[in-house]
Amino acid sequence: MPHYPGSYGSKLPDIGTSIFAVMSKLAADHNAINLSQGFPDFEVSEKLINLVNNYMLKGNNQYAPMPGLPKLREVIADKVNNLYGAKYDSDKEINITAGATQALYTAITSVIKEDDEVIIFEPAYDSYVPAIKLNGGIPVYVELKPPNYRIDWKEVKGRITPQTRMIILNSPHNPTGSVLRASDMEQLQQFLKGTDIIILSDEVYEHLIFDDKQHESICKYPELVSRSFAVFSFGKTFHATGWKMGYCLAPEELMKEFRKVHQFVVFTCNTPVQHAIADFLKDKKNYTGLGSFYQQKRDHFINALKGSRFKIIPSYGTYFQLLDYSSITDEKEMDFAVRLTKEFGIASIPVSVFYHNMSENTVLRFCFAKKEETLDKAAEILCKI
Ligand SMILES: Cc1ncc(COP(=O)(O)O)c(C=O)c1O
Repeated sequence: MPHYPGSYGSKLPDIGTSIFAVMSKLAADHNAINLSQGFPDFEVSEKLINLVNNYMLKGNNQYAPMPGLPKLREVIADKVNNLYGAKYDSDKEINITAGATQALYTAITSVIKEDDEVIIFEPAYDSYVPAIKLNGGIPVYVELKPPNYRIDWKEVKGRITPQTRMIILNSPHNPTGSVLRASDMEQLQQFLKGTDIIILSDEVYEHLIFDDKQHESICKYPELVSRSFAVFSFGKTFHATGWKMGYCLAPEELMKEFRKVHQFVVFTCNTPVQHAIADFLKDKKNYTGLGSFYQQKRDHFINALKGSRFKIIPSYGTYFQLLDYSSITDEKEMDFAVRLTKEFGIASIPVSVFYHNMSENTVLRFCFAKKEETLDKAAEILCKI
C-alpha cells in the first residue's frame, strides 16, 4: 500500500489503540483466559435470538424511523416509569442508538462547543475524553481514590467554573464497581441549582447491582432529570454486546439537539433487533433477575480467590472485579497485566489506563461475566501467583 504523502494534524494526537483491543489481542496471541474486555462468554437468550430471526424472515429489514421504532420507545417509557418514576414522552424524549457509545458521543456532540469544560470522574470509561476533545471541549478530571472510589463533592464544587457545561456520571461504575448513593444525588441536585450545567448519566449497568443496593438512576431525581441525558445499553442487559443497541433519554429541548446529530451519525439503528427487543423487554423477568445472576458470578469468583495474594476491592455493581496486587509485586499495572497474560495465561485491564495521568494504584480489573468453569480456571491460576 503506498503511503499518504500529505501532512495532517491528528485530531486526537494522544490517543492510541484502545486498551481493550490491545489486551484482547494479547490474550488471543498467548492463548490466555480473557478477563480483560467486558463481554459475556455465555449465550444470549434463545427466545430473543428467535425473535430477531423471525422479524428478519418476516421482512423487517429496511430503515426504522430515525428516533427508533415507536413500539420500542413506548416499552422503554413504561419501564423507566415503573422502575424510576420518570415520565418520558416516547415520541419526543427517547431515542434508540447504536449502543451506549453512540448515545454518549451524540449527547456530547450535541451540546459541547469549543472551550466548554466537562467534569469527568477518573478512572473513567475510555470513550468520554475523545468525544469531548473531538468537539473542542476540555475534560476536567476529578480523581476517585481506592479502595472506595467515592466522589468528593466538595472537590467537584471547587472545579466548577463559568465554562463548566457538563458533568458525566457513571453508576454502577466501570471500572471500579462503585455505585452512587441517594446522598450523592441529593448533593449534586443541591449544588447544580441555578446553573445551566447538563448531566450525562451513563447507566449501562443499571441492572447489574448487588447486595440489595438500589440503582440511583438520574431518572429518580426530577430536578436532575430536567438537565440530563441518560444513557442505557441493551448489550449489557441482554448479554448481547455485539448487537450494539442502546438508548438515550432527555427532556425535549435536549433531545431535539441530540436528534440533529444522531440523524447524521447513524440516522437509525438495526430494525429487526429493535422489533425483537420491544417484545422481549415487555417481560420484566428478562431483566429483573440480572443483579442476582451477576452477584452469584461475583461471589463465585471471589470465593474461588480465597487464599490468593490478591486483595479484593468490593464491587457493588457492573461485571468487573478489581484486585489489588500490592502484596505480590510493585510492578506498574500495565507491566504486570502484560506479564500475567504472557507468563500465566490470564488477561486483565490495568486500571491506570482509565486515568489521564496513568495514576498507579497496583490494581487490575477482571471481568466476571463468564461461565463458572472459566472463572474457576482463572481463579486457580491467580491463586498460584
Ligand atoms: C461505562 C460504559 N459505558 C458505555 C459502554 C458502551 O456500551 P455499548 O456497548 O452499548 O456501546 C460501556 C461498555 O463497556 C461501558 O462500560
